[in-house]
Amino acid sequence: MKNLSFEMIGRIGVVRINRPRALNALNKPTVEELDELIEKIKKDSEIKVLIIGSDNNFAAGADIKGMVNCNVEEAKDFSFSKTFQKIYNLEIPTIAAIDGYALGGGLELALACDFRIASTNAKVGFPEINLGIMPGAGGTIRAPRLLGVSRAKELIFFGEMISADRAEQMGLVNKIVEQEKLMEVVMEWAEKLCKKPPVALRVAKKTIDAGISEPKLNYAIKIEYENWADLFNTEDQKEGMRAFIEKRQPIYQGK
Ligand code: CAA
Repeated sequence: MKNLSFEMIGRIGVVRINRPRALNALNKPTVEELDELIEKIKKDSEIKVLIIGSDNNFAAGADIKGMVNCNVEEAKDFSFSKTFQKIYNLEIPTIAAIDGYALGGGLELALACDFRIASTNAKVGFPEINLGIMPGAGGTIRAPRLLGVSRAKELIFFGEMISADRAEQMGLVNKIVEQEKLMEVVMEWAEKLCKKPPVALRVAKKTIDAGISEPKLNYAIKIEYENWADLFNTEDQKEGMRAFIEKRQPIYQGK
């Protein structure tokens, strides 16, 4: 891979964007590499948590130089929606580690993850409006679900960058930490998630994502009820409850 790196740290997969000359702006080859990598990660049962990050800047958006002359069809071809949706649909927990700029498509990549942990010097936002476009890789859809409609419109209509503090107040990031501690804290979250029962995590993720998109509350509750009951068909449920009763730590098999 030319624009990305990938390493396994124990059972945790770590992807890093590596185009520092363009502040990690996402060009088409970078996202194609990411797409191929995500396809491999989907099939790899050894990976329990995925971290997406980069050194110094998360990503300063889609590559404007690669987009400037696109017509409608080329813009569709350039769009990163399909790849980001694959990340959103991964069954394992995903964490975006945001240092520096996470703008436009960069923020949309972070929004496709389950969690966002940012360093105190992170700057996030949707500057697309200032380029005569709008977010096109999930931003207009995921931001309102996460922040509420009015806050999402504030970010998207004004196109201004916000600080890590403001992003945390808005609920856009889960936690902010000092820059030098960013990867340490992200790894702590990932390690904790590795110790949780994988099937229950997977089903909880699927149920939350199905519920948030389901307009009929009664139906959403039914999805939860069915998925919850199905977990009683797992060894992890027996192990988790027996361990509690026997006053010991559970050992989950992911079955
Ligand atoms: N695309 C292409 N190149 C970019 C880029 C981007 N999104 N962001 C930064 N770069 C490049 C710059 O062109 C520059 O390269 P050169 O030295 O070759 O000119 C290099 O990275 C360093 O950038 P700056 O000199 O601008 O650095 P700065 O510190 O002065 O400013 C910044 C940093 C505020 C992030 C500024 O670079 C900036 O505003 N970048 C664009 C951010 C943006 O608009 N992102 C949204 C893109 S559209 C999108 O993402 C659509 C979508 O929904 C998918």
